[in-house]
Amino acid sequence: MVVNVETKGDLAVVTINNPPVNAASHAVRAGLMAAIADTESSGAVRAVVLRADGRTFTAGADVREFDSLLQEPHLPDVILALEDVTKPWIAALHGTVLGGGLEIALGCSHRIAQPGTKLGLPEVTLGLIPGAGGTVRLPRLIDPVAALNMVVSGKPVSAEKALELGLIDDIADGDLTRCACAMAQKAADAPSRIPLGRRGAPAVQDTLQWEALKSKSIARARGAHAPAAAVLAIQRALDLPATEALKSERNAFMSLKSDPQSAALRYIFFAERSASKLPELDSVKPRSISSLGVIGGGTMGAGIAAACLLSGIPVTLVERDDAARTAGQDRVMGILTDSLNRGLIDQNKHEALSANLTTAITYDALAKTDLVIEAVFEDMALKTHVFQALDGVVRPESILASNTSYLDIQAIANQTRHPERVIGLHFFSPAHIMKLLEVVIPSHAAASAISSGFALAKRLGKIAVPAGVCDGFIGNRIMSAYRRECDYMIEDGALPWDIDRAMRSFGFPMGLFEMQDLAGLDIGWARRKNRAVTRDSTERYVHIADKLCEAGRFGRKTNKGWYEYNDGKATPSGWVQDLVLSESARKGITRGLITDEEINQRILSTIQTEAQALLAEGIARRPEDVDVVMVNGYGFPRWLGGPMYLHAHPLTAN
Ligand code: NAI
Repeated sequence: MVVNVETKGDLAVVTINNPPVNAASHAVRAGLMAAIADTESSGAVRAVVLRADGRTFTAGADVREFDSLLQEPHLPDVILALEDVTKPWIAALHGTVLGGGLEIALGCSHRIAQPGTKLGLPEVTLGLIPGAGGTVRLPRLIDPVAALNMVVSGKPVSAEKALELGLIDDIADGDLTRCACAMAQKAADAPSRIPLGRRGAPAVQDTLQWEALKSKSIARARGAHAPAAAVLAIQRALDLPATEALKSERNAFMSLKSDPQSAALRYIFFAERSASKLPELDSVKPRSISSLGVIGGGTMGAGIAAACLLSGIPVTLVERDDAARTAGQDRVMGILTDSLNRGLIDQNKHEALSANLTTAITYDALAKTDLVIEAVFEDMALKTHVFQALDGVVRPESILASNTSYLDIQAIANQTRHPERVIGLHFFSPAHIMKLLEVVIPSHAAASAISSGFALAKRLGKIAVPAGVCDGFIGNRIMSAYRRECDYMIEDGALPWDIDRAMRSFGFPMGLFEMQDLAGLDIGWARRKNRAVTRDSTERYVHIADKLCEAGRFGRKTNKGWYEYNDGKATPSGWVQDLVLSESARKGITRGLITDEEINQRILSTIQTEAQALLAEGIARRPEDVDVVMVNGYGFPRWLGGPMYLHAHPLTAN
């Protein structure tokens, strides 16, 4: 049975059992309706506990049912029926109580959660708003500003935060079901509570904060429809009686469900989950990783070390000398302390994680580690030297990975005695925050090494995408191509800020030139200088970026780059504009107007063309993988699905 009713004295315990995540599928909805009727008609039952078996309480709707006509009973009706009961219902929550799961809990009279539970309404991430009363009931239970924040961000809150907000009545101290039964006994003797769906709308206390949050939420959406619809739904929930607000919410939900943006968001949701499922690794056991080494404690190494520590993996960080070791350790500790300050970990955890970090200046400290990630300077000779040195100290069954952005991992592997254990693990900056990880697979890599790379990614909570070996793998190779195209456009008639404005209007969080200023222009310059000897002299080459660097303009860190910076605020640079115009003139190019639409079209078609080449070469396995990389690593608007999805579904751009 998907929903079971068990009587315990004068209580009934209703259990949902629909693995893996107890999704509110048709069978669950029908089972809940039957359980409501059952427990209402039983004279012996005074109160009901609603719980779920397995790893979580209901974690949302069954997304697979989305594309077909939903079968009755619909979730809003189940929740209305829950609000019609005469007995208290206590929702006993654990795991990830998301979307429809939280809406069911809001239909119950009481809520108790196990420590570690996460509660949220993430529908906006699928281009939707809660469609079973979430936007109406939540602001009737907790401060409307907090409710708006939860619905618009889609981010879940912890059990502790939920208790502070009043979203739950208690956190279980001991066995969840036992605590929920104790709460049910008390509730049966207490006066009944008015269901949230029958309460009047609360007044917003801080109207200034309310209005500011509404405008900020819409601005941040950058063209995504769902966050704006969520703002409107919560506003209506406060302006209208609950019954009308519920109808209005359902209508908005239904219309978003057929919005192409939602289809695109569902597509990328599934693409992210399937990217790491390589059929050839089905029966390959990953190596268990109980300790990990990181070489280089700079920007990337420190971020990678912190990501591993935060996921419970002990790390040995190796730097080149004592001063660099101290600096690297400080960087890692800085990230851990930042996590403490932001409430992501508590003091005890901070201490435990700090104790899991060891630092060293010689490679023999890595002798017993199961996996080593190299993140030293982007220099082939240096990386080859590091891998050869590692070869001598690390056990032959340990895995060696490089975080190189562009270098040939195959060539690095070939310089070692066990090339089959060498892979690429290309993290994105900041490595403890960015979700994307390209798992770069040289041709001789052993299946167990590849599978361990994916297993590590999963443990770190990353979205892993397989990539073949080439200059820049999937993401950086595509970015190099559209960067080149943008360089051509500035010589042909656009200015850097025109490109940035167009990209923002398309939905990128920032334009390419702003992004370069943020990352530092010297990195790309060093790379271009290295390649100058091998560059095809017949190929068009734009010198503008090099000339910026020659003038000491390295971006935000020198307060001058493509833009000029005053107190962190960017303004277009007259110096850059003069340089751009003189470079066009020097090359005899007549500059012409390039519209925002044309800019975006040229960027998009460059991305699509390069992606087609990557697919043809087998560097990217599936168009979906390209989309996952571009959306999670390069700011491509998620609600458009990605460049390849957009190519196949051009209407979604509207
Ligand atoms: P970084 O310059 O911040 O750090 C490099 C670190 O390596 C320095 O702390 C240096 O002291 C250390 N190091 C140099 N030689 C060493 C040796 N022989 N033994 C031990 N440590 C040594 O550089 P960053 O940005 O962290 O980049 C590292 C690698 O990650 C590069 O291959 C880069 O291409 C790649 N990468 C960089 C990204 C970024 O956004 N910065 C993104 C993804 C990959």
